[in-house]
Amino acid sequence: MDKNLTKKIAPEAAPVAALEAALEAALEAGEILRGGINSHKDIGRKSSAVDLITQYDHQAEAVIVNKLQESFPDHNIVAEESDWNNEGADHSDFTWYIDPLDGTNNFSHGFPVFAVSIALYHQNKPLVGVVYDPMRDECFQAVSGQGAFLQTAASVQPLAVSQNHRLVDSLLATGFPYDRHHSDHDNIKQFAVFLKKALGIRRAGSASLDLAYVAAGRLDGYWEYKLSSWDVAAGLLLVQEANGQVSNMEGEELLLTPTLSLVASNGLIQKSMVTAINNEAKVS
Ligand code: 2AM
Ligand code: CA
Repeated sequence: MDKNLTKKIAPEAAPVAALEAALEAALEAGEILRGGINSHKDIGRKSSAVDLITQYDHQAEAVIVNKLQESFPDHNIVAEESDWNNEGADHSDFTWYIDPLDGTNNFSHGFPVFAVSIALYHQNKPLVGVVYDPMRDECFQAVSGQGAFLQTAASVQPLAVSQNHRLVDSLLATGFPYDRHHSDHDNIKQFAVFLKKALGIRRAGSASLDLAYVAAGRLDGYWEYKLSSWDVAAGLLLVQEANGQVSNMEGEELLLTPTLSLVASNGLIQKSMVTAINNEAKVS
């Protein structure tokens, strides 16, 4: 991808330096992942038997963290695989949220659906979000107040959410938590309810890409439980800047906390999704 294409995006925006650094880091990390997808992976396990990690998660994260620290040495960094995360350390009002490989289980199987997700927040407000899909060379990006864009090798196009307002016309996405083997909060009831109501449900396995696809109008809505801040920090801004809506499961303002559950949509089906989750799919 031609990195100069980035210059066409949001030239007036204050956080352009941050966007450029995030894009450069995401493209470089993506190259590492693209190179690793068909190679041998050393697979480890984290919180559960289905929460995987490979050497490529570490390599991609190192590239991103080094790049961002070099450009913004004072900023906080919250990165999925680092044990030196300083979330809440109050070093700076600026915090980077990094998932170097979102969709590790797909990646470890050679299933080509995964992304690099990088976001910059000022206090609790998103400033910049980048979700890069290295297999399709699609780079979804947004700057607060400046809209969301999809950059490919050929072009930079503005993103806009879909216009479907009925669940029966809506393509939805979701995922299932890593603790599902021993927790009753496994999203099965919600999945069953939406399966009966929606046009279809996709379970692609990368939360950041699911959110990017809502922003792009490829999906109408998405819900998922027990995610982490770095999975969704960039995608939330993409959806908002593409004129979509995000909320917690109760339909209230979504706060970027270390663990979170969310509904994101084109805005038109947000209420129907929240209502279905809280009425028909309530788990006691
Ligand atoms: P990961 O690949 O970076 O771990 C799968 O449903 C999607 O949700 C992936 O984006 C995965 O990110 C993310 N995820 C984060 N926390 C999760 C959890 N507790 N259970 C399942 N998926 C989780
Ligand atoms: Ca990850």
